[in-house]
Amino acid sequence: MSVRDEVLAYLEAHRGDYVSGQELADRLGISRNSVWKSIEALRGEGYDLESRTNRGYRLTLENDVLSAAGVAAAWPSELAVDCPELHVFAQVDSTNNEAKRMLSSGFEGSALVLADSQSGGRGRRGRTFASPAGGLYMTLVLQARDLVVEPTMCTLAAAVAVAHAIDARSDAHAGIKWVNDVIVDGLKVCGILTEGISDLETGSISSVAVGIGVNLGPAEMPSELRGIAGKVKLAQGSTRNQFAAQVAAELMHAVTAPEGARGLVEEYRRLSIIIGREITYEAPGGTRTALALEIDDAGGLVVRDADGSVTTLRGGEVSVRF
Ligand code: BTN
Repeated sequence: MSVRDEVLAYLEAHRGDYVSGQELADRLGISRNSVWKSIEALRGEGYDLESRTNRGYRLTLENDVLSAAGVAAAWPSELAVDCPELHVFAQVDSTNNEAKRMLSSGFEGSALVLADSQSGGRGRRGRTFASPAGGLYMTLVLQARDLVVEPTMCTLAAAVAVAHAIDARSDAHAGIKWVNDVIVDGLKVCGILTEGISDLETGSISSVAVGIGVNLGPAEMPSELRGIAGKVKLAQGSTRNQFAAQVAAELMHAVTAPEGARGLVEEYRRLSIIIGREITYEAPGGTRTALALEIDDAGGLVVRDADGSVTTLRGGEVSVRF
């Protein structure tokens, strides 16, 4: 770790409290001058750092710069999942692309890739995903050998984790529109793109990259998304680092720990907002109208078509009027 990273980690661990320059120097085994230089460097990067004579430095509770130190300090210990390797970017083409680059260069562990903005954010079905600065774009990389559920369940677990984090860290109340849209007041506030990476020799999935984009930023939505996409404003004192740590830890717990996986589908059903509603979906013969009946144990959507036949949708997208 660089001196700057060590100073930041210490300040993150004491967020909201003053820490004296001498304490930082003593604890980290560095000079007061190095402390000062690191503080100045962090300020230059946009960290909200206050200083007071005789008290020292304080990272404010409002500071919302994404950082590995911030996520690590906010990692919830009660879920008993280890914080994965953290990679944080001010901007990247796509956190899913970065995850896939790591995997193709031989990475074999768990990692969380985060970015403040994406220049080439990707959505489902080849669409682009608007990713202005100040949002939260994250991809959790997991190895298939660590999963206790089918890889497809990662998408459900991600949607549940995001909905919980929104409920806990904002005034909004989130629901899930099958299969992976998180909705607040009828508008999509989060999209999820789970990609499986297969082992060419066995043909089976060896790792997954669960990409999650949450509209948390102050930036205006592109005009074509008005009436479709919404935003979530985090409650005062809640940060994107905390939000990301909570989502990633809960998601990991749900898909890698048997006790976490238990009750996952039940919770997904509870949060689902389309059961009992009329939906439309694309079928080989064209658009169909159906009634959403239930979510089955594998996360499929059971629907009754207008002709009375019952079908289970395993993928694709459905539309519903809120
Ligand atoms: C969708 O709703 O179509 C899925 C959107 C998924 C967006 C996230 S943002 C983080 C990760 N990186 C990407 O390029 N895409 C996913």
